[in-house]
Amino acid sequence: MKGIVFTEFLEMIETKFGYSLVDQLLTETDLPSGGKYTAIGTYNHGEMVTLVTKLSQHTNIPVPDLLRVYGQYMFVTFTKKYRSLIDRSDSAFSLLHSIDHHIHVEVRKLYPDAELPHFTVEQVSDRQIYMYYTSERKLSDFALGLMDGCFAHFGEKATIRKTNLVDDGSKVLFDIVKE
Ligand code: HEM
Repeated sequence: MKGIVFTEFLEMIETKFGYSLVDQLLTETDLPSGGKYTAIGTYNHGEMVTLVTKLSQHTNIPVPDLLRVYGQYMFVTFTKKYRSLIDRSDSAFSLLHSIDHHIHVEVRKLYPDAELPHFTVEQVSDRQIYMYYTSERKLSDFALGLMDGCFAHFGEKATIRKTNLVDDGSKVLFDIVKE
């Protein structure tokens, strides 16, 4: 998992809960990297699971909620760091359609070792799409937050219903209806 995922996560904790909690998490957890992340480095995905689980224990906020909020935060980061990828789309649906065959393709060129999910999108009607998420990292709640961020960015509103297609969360259906 790329370092940006970790550096932005720690920055979000600092913004929302204060630096002392970041410090506490890093000292209490035994991370192979020692918690020294750089944006271009690559780290074990298990470290994110450890950090988010610890954060949940400290804040009493369930892990899925933390991952969703983190996705919302991350989308704002992407709008700053990868503006040109986002500006190619003029609506949330058009951006969601372009993740698998454009956005993440460009990400892969920048970071050949990125661990990216797979999406397929089905246009049900003008107002509705089905998005199928597949990833062994089981981060569909993070994906949900990124989708929230995407709709907010375009000033649109949508209802997103998430259903696990496999119990462990590695295959998920998002039923997205635009208001
Ligand atoms: C992961 C880039 C938009 C879903 C990632 C990673 C990067 C990235 C750098 C980390 C890869 C790694 O850790 O190795 C971007 C950029 C975007 C964008 C630049 C927009 C400009 C989106 C959107 C969604 C999404 C809108 C959701 C609908 C995900 C998920 C992961 C991920 C769920 C976590 C890895 C996994 O689940 O396997 N993306 N992304 N991305 N991205 Fe994107």
